[in-house]
Amino acid sequence: METRRAFLKTLLMGTAGVAVARVGFDSAEAGWFGFGGPRDEWLRIGKLQDFPENAKLVVHDAVRAPDGKKIKNLKLIAERRGEQVSVMSTRCTHFGCEVTQMEDGTFVCPCHDSHFDASGAVTKGPAKQPLPWHATQVTDGEVQVNLSKVLPAPQI
Ligand code: FES
Repeated sequence: METRRAFLKTLLMGTAGVAVARVGFDSAEAGWFGFGGPRDEWLRIGKLQDFPENAKLVVHDAVRAPDGKKIKNLKLIAERRGEQVSVMSTRCTHFGCEVTQMEDGTFVCPCHDSHFDASGAVTKGPAKQPLPWHATQVTDGEVQVNLSKVLPAPQI
């Protein structure tokens, strides 16, 4: 009887471990935490015509380009200049909290009070790295972003 109880306990603990690991993979799809960071893949974030010229737009959702799987809760800052769209992450580079955009266009992290200017550069630590800008492309009128590719901040 004791052996059977120990077996069931082991089985339950193993199942819990799988559930925790699965949550980790889902978070990785959102682009920051997880095993190995964001995937090297293109995510569709909208039609170019839906991005207003010279204005920042917050993007919350994306669709994985190859298989159409929806990715939610991204919160990326996108800015269109002509036919190009630049995309910046809102994940603080200290420990990954989501930064808050202030009225003056700068960003503040609610977790440990790091500050970033409008281009994502650190103006106050503890964060040491700027908010990352990601590679984008426009394919068939659709804007796509690759969260695994980090670029220098564009000249705004
Ligand atoms: S997570 Fe942003 S300052 Fe620590």
